[in-house]
Amino acid sequence: MCGIIGYVGKKKPIPVLIEGLKQLEYRGYDSAGIAVVLNEEVRIRRVKGKIALLEKSLEDSPLDGLYGLGHTRWATHGRPSEENAHPHRDCTGTIVVVHNGIIENYLDIKESLKKKGHQFKTETDSEVIAHLVEEYFEGTLENAVLKAVKELEGAYAVAVISTKDPQKIVAAKIGPPAVVGLGEEEFLVSSDINPLLKYTQNIVFLEDRDIAVITPAGVQFLDFGGRKLQKKIDHITWNPMMIEKRGYKHFMLKEIFEQPQVVRDTLQGRLSLDSANVCLSEIGIPDEILSDTGRVVIIACGTSYHAGLVGKYFIEAMAGVPVDLEFASEYRYRDFILDEKALVVVISQSGETADTLAALRAVKEKGPQTLAVCNVVSSSIAREAAGVLYTHAGPEIGVAATKTFIAQLTAMALLGLHLAQVKGTAGNKERLRLIEELLRIPHRMEHILHDVQKIEKLAARFVSFNHFLYLGRWVSYPAALEGALKLKEISYIHAEGYPGGEMKHGPIALIDDKMPTMVIIPKDRVYDKMLSNISEIKTRIGYIVAVAFDNDETIASRVDEVLPVPPVDPLFSPFVTILPLQLFAYYIAAIRGADVDQPRNLAKSVTVE
Ligand code: M6R
Repeated sequence: MCGIIGYVGKKKPIPVLIEGLKQLEYRGYDSAGIAVVLNEEVRIRRVKGKIALLEKSLEDSPLDGLYGLGHTRWATHGRPSEENAHPHRDCTGTIVVVHNGIIENYLDIKESLKKKGHQFKTETDSEVIAHLVEEYFEGTLENAVLKAVKELEGAYAVAVISTKDPQKIVAAKIGPPAVVGLGEEEFLVSSDINPLLKYTQNIVFLEDRDIAVITPAGVQFLDFGGRKLQKKIDHITWNPMMIEKRGYKHFMLKEIFEQPQVVRDTLQGRLSLDSANVCLSEIGIPDEILSDTGRVVIIACGTSYHAGLVGKYFIEAMAGVPVDLEFASEYRYRDFILDEKALVVVISQSGETADTLAALRAVKEKGPQTLAVCNVVSSSIAREAAGVLYTHAGPEIGVAATKTFIAQLTAMALLGLHLAQVKGTAGNKERLRLIEELLRIPHRMEHILHDVQKIEKLAARFVSFNHFLYLGRWVSYPAALEGALKLKEISYIHAEGYPGGEMKHGPIALIDDKMPTMVIIPKDRVYDKMLSNISEIKTRIGYIVAVAFDNDETIASRVDEVLPVPPVDPLFSPFVTILPLQLFAYYIAAIRGADVDQPRNLAKSVTVE
């Protein structure tokens, strides 16, 4: 994963690089470093640990430079250490590289370069790039990079500087993302758009096999053959205010509280109460094609997979189309079968998840329609799918996905309604009812967020438990999975999400007074079945916290604690039931003193396999 950043322009580079690295820190945070150039000398500072340590080191012993590179690392090859932290140098110390990705053939390259006399100082795969550029350096830096990349196998977004060709950053990519910011007399390259927004909203997204030659005079784009490219400039509407904590202790908490607005923003302009219609002409797949959909296949990872599972229930219920849900990491290696009536929907917040991107590419080879549901505009998945339905969640900084999950649910509801409309499987009356229900959701969510003290207090009581079971059925099953994932990710407590009906087939053996169960039980078609689960757990002296609709006396009398949510149409209950579960996980992690926004071992966007 890792984050890379580079700056050339009129400002002092170190504050720009440090600020940028802080915004990329979600991509990896085991070590960090910067390199700046002054008077034909490269000055490097690296630390094991987070950006704050790098910043402190630079405060204690400042560096000066005119332009430079920065990196925050999520270790793949070589343990986290100062030596293995980027930037990496060649033998002469005049060429410096930051890299995100994996160079699969690095051992072969290293061996052959060693035979030519190159000396390596680190255990990383990335260092070979600096030595390869050194080997090929003749004339300009871009010429050397053009030759070097021809030898690299694997995935990389790389940025290189050299004192031998000063005031220049050369960036190249295959796989992981790299974006170039075009400011006023200042230019940046980064792993995502967030660090660029303070300087410019004019962004160029590099495609695979693009090279950017960035100088104070402007940016030239080349392909791997050295031919000049005309790149499209995207104007991004996200603004820098969106990536500040604004008084919240953690980004995750801020993002949880943003969720009602995220639903509104994702619905905005896409629904008409007058005609009971959903308007998704923006997605770029004509209604005539969508109306012919015989089967939907949803592919995703992690939280996006859970949103896909809710989406499966939405689409099946609204449009009557069969839906399969697949893990991208499995699907990409399967002998999958798709006919021309299949609509393949890939869901990815970042639009850069390596497995999801690879699955999309594998699907495209077989020819069916592809639709991406993405949050990051012009991300790789958004660009490569035939159509794209954007979620309007804004930038999400907390590594644990919250508001983007809600935005994905909203997008899946829109897609279900749209398919129902174009296929004629739901009449005007039913569509209008569902649209009205959807429009009411943000207000219902706000109701929960107005009073979160009860959830915080409950979390304080449960903070020392080491195992949790999350049970739900029908649309509450994905909510159970997602609630358990949140707890695991940020508090490191073991939590399992299970479909209620499966409890008796195994997990019931775990139930005792040391394993509380979170039961998600809105008044829906499986309510009575879930009541049986509750009885079975109570018989085995298990402690139960239920997420149930307000004023459900039956539940209140049968469980130990209730986290109430306002009633909504049962199909849409995950929009509200997930909120107490996110907050419960958040408060447990915060009380335990965990690093909520940057949990150990995780990275927000998994751009390696
Ligand atoms: O960017 P994507 O939606 O493709 O990311 C998929 C997963 O990596 C992501 O949802 C992950 O599970 C999050 N950490 C969940 O909180």
